[in-house]
Amino acid sequence: MPPKPAWDQYGEYLAIDSILNAQHPQSMVGGSAVHDEMLFIQFHQIYELWFKQILFELDDVLPRLGADTVSESDMQPILTYLGRIVEILKQMESMIDVLETMPPQSFIDFREYLGTASGFQSAQFRLIETRLGLERKTRLCVFHGQFDDNLKDSTKAAIKDAEKQPTLFAALDRWLARTPFVHLHSYTFANDYRMAVYDMFAERINIARTKLSGEALAAELEAIEKGKQKFEGIFDEELHAQAVKDGHWRLSWKALQAALFITIYRDTPILQAPYALLTQVMNIDALLARWRLRHALMVQRMVGMSLGTGGSSGYEYLMATVTSHRIFTDFFALSTYLIPSRALPPLPDDIRREMNYTYTTHR
Ligand code: HEM
Repeated sequence: MPPKPAWDQYGEYLAIDSILNAQHPQSMVGGSAVHDEMLFIQFHQIYELWFKQILFELDDVLPRLGADTVSESDMQPILTYLGRIVEILKQMESMIDVLETMPPQSFIDFREYLGTASGFQSAQFRLIETRLGLERKTRLCVFHGQFDDNLKDSTKAAIKDAEKQPTLFAALDRWLARTPFVHLHSYTFANDYRMAVYDMFAERINIARTKLSGEALAAELEAIEKGKQKFEGIFDEELHAQAVKDGHWRLSWKALQAALFITIYRDTPILQAPYALLTQVMNIDALLARWRLRHALMVQRMVGMSLGTGGSSGYEYLMATVTSHRIFTDFFALSTYLIPSRALPPLPDDIRREMNYTYTTHR
């Protein structure tokens, strides 16, 4: 058989016909075509393709990071694919500019054709949230029951299945908890850090005593004591366990220590990839929150305070998800416990030596 002409191969390889024939504006069928319905449909379709790509990247990242051993050669694809998710999320956020060229009046003109259709029912979006680590118990309640009560059975089953698999949060926690060097030989990072924190507060007390007196001194000493107490929460394992129960922390004790260690000593060659990983995870969390915010503001512009077609309070519900549906906030909260570089405990020489890569030249 003669080879197909190039133009034909392009269309077949990319299934262009299927994609370009998948837009069916209902206002056209209804006889009073609304120009902007086409944009609205294609917009959702483009997002669903990005969602698909994000899930595809997670399919690769999660087993690698969730494995009992994560080798150096796994780190490169993990960082590449998480970095790709970051870039996709940036596109998803800025794309909203295009949808906002639609006047709210145009949306109202075809909204009746949506029925109860809503992004709320996007199975892929729910899977992304779940696989990243958003827990069922954290989700805002929209319809008195569970968030997925009104979703179709196949979506519910897919979400339940994803809930049984390790999430990015869980995989990261397990991986962090295994970080070597946090306790090695006679070295325990938490002990050294605690001493450095105590020294820093002792210095502040000395300065306060030389510069202040009376009520001002008392107020400053009280503030310093409160600051010191705050740090106990990360040094003391039992206090941490209570904080987890109270919902203040989600990371395990060991993972938290490791994340702080990596953040502080990030310049050490062996910690550069772990630090890049923590940074990417924070980027994903922040970008998802930014998308939620942009989407909520766009919704308010389009429909004001009306209820959503999916049955939620609309703008109000969406704004609440911006803060409530975050996943990796522990890594942001860690910054509360950073101290100035000059006060940091230096790494013991033997630990630093073990952490450095060594290169040997063979002659
Ligand atoms: C005029 C444009 C849009 C309007 C007025 C709109 C409106 C809404 C509203 C009111 C909700 C809350 C659920 C409900 O009660 O329906 C919602 C949720 C959602 N929308 Fe949109 N939306 C628009 C465009 C988009 C686009 C282009 C996407 C991309 C796929 C999208 C994805 C979502 C998702 C994923 C949710 C669930 C959010 C969550 O529960 O956290 N929306 N939308």
